Formats: sequence, C-alpha cells, structure tokens
Amino acid sequence: MAVLVTGGAGYIGSHTCVELLNAGYDVVVADNLSNSSEVSLQRVEQITGKPVAFYRADVRDASKLDEIFERHDIRQVIHFAGFKAVGESVAKPLMYYRNNLDSTIGLCEAMLRHKVGELVFSSSATVYSPGNTMPLSETSSTGNCTHPYGWTKFMCEEIIMDVVRAHKGFSAALLRYFNPVGAHPSGLIGEDPSGIPNNLMPFISQTAVGRRKELSVFGDDYDTPDGTGVRDYLHVVDLAKGHVSAIRYLDDHDGVHIFNLGTGRGTSVLEMVRTFEKVNHVPVPYRITDRRPGDLATVYADPSKSNRELHWKTELDLEDMCCDSWNWQSSNPNGYES
Ligand code: NAD
Ligand code: UD1
Repeated sequence: MAVLVTGGAGYIGSHTCVELLNAGYDVVVADNLSNSSEVSLQRVEQITGKPVAFYRADVRDASKLDEIFERHDIRQVIHFAGFKAVGESVAKPLMYYRNNLDSTIGLCEAMLRHKVGELVFSSSATVYSPGNTMPLSETSSTGNCTHPYGWTKFMCEEIIMDVVRAHKGFSAALLRYFNPVGAHPSGLIGEDPSGIPNNLMPFISQTAVGRRKELSVFGDDYDTPDGTGVRDYLHVVDLAKGHVSAIRYLDDHDGVHIFNLGTGRGTSVLEMVRTFEKVNHVPVPYRITDRRPGDLATVYADPSKSNRELHWKTELDLEDMCCDSWNWQSSNPNGYES
C-alpha cells in the first residue's frame, strides 16, 4: 500500500516523504524536477534507510500517471506539484494557471480512472482574502487574491471540492499552510530556491552564509510591535507530519475537509533575524527598505481545528526553525549543487 507524492522531490514534499516512510508507508514520487533535484530523494533514502520509487514525470502527462497507478498499489495521493513563486506568477500568469490547474485536473482524472479516492492538497494561507481579522480560521473569507499564484490555489480548491461533490468515494483534505521554514535536523534536506529567494528565511540564511550582502527588511512602519511584518512560521518537519495526520484522517472521513497548518503565533521580521543570530552565532546584516507591495502587516493562523480533528500540533519552536535552517544552509551553501 503506497502513497503517491506529486512534487515529492521539492522542499515540503521531500520532508513529507521522510515522515511517511518513518510512519511505515511506501512512497512513490512523481516529479518533473522543474524546481528540484533528484538528490533530495537520495537523501530521503539516506535519512530513513528506506527506498523511494521515483518517476521523473510531469503530472500533466496522463499516460505516465496511468503507468504509475498501474504499477503500484496506491491508496492515497498527496499533491505538492506546482509552481509557487508569487512574483513569477505575476510576470507569467499563463504558465502558472497552465501548470497548477492542469496538474490538479489531470491528477484528479487519473485518480478517478484508477479508483483512488483520497487526496491531500497543498493549499496556502494566500487563499484568504485581505481584510480578514486575525487569527485566520478555516471559515474566514477567501478569494480576492492579489496574484495569479494565489488564484491558482483558490481555483484548485474549488475544483477539488466539485470533484468530491460529484464523485461518491472521493474525499480530500485541503491543507492551508502558513509560512513553512526550517529543514530536517540531519541537515541533509532543506529549501533550495533557484535564483534570488522571495521568502524571508532562505534570504536570511543565504545572507548569513555570505551568498547575499544584506537582507532588505520590507518596511518598519507597520502597525505591529516593532513595525515589521508579522507571520506565522512553522517548522517544515511539523508541516510534513501534518500530511501524515491528514492521510490518516481521510481513511475514516468522507467529503472535503479544510485545515490550517500553522502555529497560531506571529513572529516579526526583526524577531526572526535576532533569533537566527542568537541561536547560530552568525551576523545577519540588514537594511530597512520600502514596504513590499501587496504585503499585509500581520497574518497568523487559528490552528485549533487541526489540533482538535487531525490531532496535530506543532512541536518545534522558532529556535529550532532557525537552527535547522542554518544547519542545512551551512552544510549545503549552494543547496543540492554543493
Ligand atoms: P517546491 O517547488 O520545492 O516543490 C514543488 C515540486 O513540484 C518541485 O519539486 C517541482 O519540480 C515539482 N513540479 C512542479 N510542477 C510539476 C509538474 N507539472 N509535474 C511534476 N512535478 C512538478 O515547492 P514547495 O515549497 O515544496 O511547495 C510544495 C507545494 O506547497 C506547492 O504546491 C506550493 O504551492 C505549496 N505551498 C508552499 C508554501 C511555501 O511557503 N513553500 C506555502 C503554501 C503552499
Ligand atoms: C509570501 C507570499 C504569499 C505566499 C508565501 C509563501 C507575497 C506578497 N506573499 O508570503 O502569497 O503564500 O510567501 O510562499 O509575496 N520579508 C522581508 N524581506 C525579504 C523577504 C520577506 O522583510 O527579503 C518580510 C515580508 O515583508 C513579510 C515576511 O518577511 O513580512 C515574510 O515574507 P515571506 O517569507 O515572503 O512570506 P509572506 O509574505 O507571508
């Protein structure tokens, strides 16, 4: 009995493969390596001592998916595959709609053809409308997304909900991640963004390792305790474990279920910088710059539904996130190319 993990060679996917294997599942990965390296899966095998069945495959390729479903006894699917860079989605909207929507539609079609009825989908806190009060709960309003990437996540959620409504026996968990950071404590797998990182933590760790001159802190005049943006950062290992909880949940829950995966705690940019410097004893030079267009002052989750229903709760704290990010970055200064 295996779990198919699309996009399993990527950042969150590779950490989830580790937790699935540790929990006793067999893992089959389909990834076209458009934003990842096969080395991550070799490292997953090294960490767990267990094999991963890997297919270099585009999830939009129906015949390849048929081959995978025919070869393996797949009972559940976790769908990570997709593009995720906000700025790139603004510059290349059609590329984002094409990849993220077609991969989700093609995957659902293949699951129906092969009578596989449990899907866990990587969604994002970005589907929540600006203007909600904090914390965000699963019933907060969604839509009014400010970029094509956000719309692709919103639309994929809608598509999956329609599939669940139309097809008896098809159930889904839509997991809305807040801000995943950190790396496996072994330092063997972690986030390896191509080009200049958009997100805070990889920018901090690349600055600390000397790949970037300084961090730009996007605004210090927000209505927050120190004026910098506040987000709900969670350790990627906790996030990965949330996926194991979700596939277990789908074993005895029909229908569609939406869960926030976050800590419920907000951290400012400067708090993150200071924690990183303190736990790792490295300087992170920074400069305050203008606000980034589209940024909100404060975003954090109400994770009580996941705590209660998935029996999932984050266990690792901000120091763990900073320590493990640095362990990965300093032992792999150029990511998987190192
Ligand atoms: P990632 O880029 O590291 O992983 C995505 C993987 O999907 C990559 O390995 C890439 O090669 C693969 N892929 C892309 N298109 C594909 C296709 N058509 N066929 C096969 N493989 C394909 O990203 P990640 O950070 O691990 O994110 C995983 C998922 O979680 C994405 O769907 C992303 O939108 C979502 N998400 C990420 C974050 C975050 O902050 N990292 C937050 C919320 C949601
Ligand atoms: C961003 C995306 C969001 C996406 C999420 C995860 C935007 C507007 N939002 O969210 O849609 O779901 O990433 O991929 O792009 N910061 C700096 N300097 C930096 C980078 C970030 O000060 O170099 C600040 C930001 O202003 C923010 C915080 O750090 O206050 C976190 O930023 P980031 O990691 O990009 O995450 P989000 O803004 O939550």
